[in-house]
Amino acid sequence: MRRIIYCSQATTDLSPDELVALLETSRRNNERDGLSGMLLYSSQSFLQTLEGASATVERTYDRIRADTRHDNLRLLLDDESAEPLFAEWTMGFEHVDDDALGDELTGFTPATVYPLVNPDLITNAGVALTLLGLYAKNATA
Ligand SMILES: Cc1cc2nc3c(=O)[nH]c(=O)nc-3n(C[C@H](O)[C@H](O)[C@H](O)COP(=O)(O)O)c2cc1C
Repeated sequence: MRRIIYCSQATTDLSPDELVALLETSRRNNERDGLSGMLLYSSQSFLQTLEGASATVERTYDRIRADTRHDNLRLLLDDESAEPLFAEWTMGFEHVDDDALGDELTGFTPATVYPLVNPDLITNAGVALTLLGLYAKNATA
């Protein structure tokens, strides 16, 4: 099983309706394709993990990369793993506000000046995975 983690910057501040639409498409496709994962959105930044069969992860990431709703993608992890960590989610989702993120990440400075894509914040895949795991526990189905 393959797992990737990437972060990116939304090209616009997505409305709740736009986020719901994005999630519906993602969950429909991921269910069809046997993928699981978790998506965080905060301060116009995305942090996402995707896990499943290697070729399927690859195909999906190719589609996601070409999506104009975000850019500045940075791949943080591309690894093989025995077990999925987010098996219960076709795509778990949390819209994380800056205060909540500040509680989880020491030294976090909020908002667009310092988004998740900032290399100083998500310094490595371990940090990213911990963060995704924390929010997956309370994510909305
Ligand atoms: C931040 C972000 C995360 C996304 N995650 C997924 C995903 O997990 N699975 C997926 O199929 N599409 C995802 N998409 C949407 C794809 O870019 C693309 O629009 C979609 O797969 C097209 O599906 P369709 O051909 O069924 O319309 C994501 C897009 C963005 C901007």
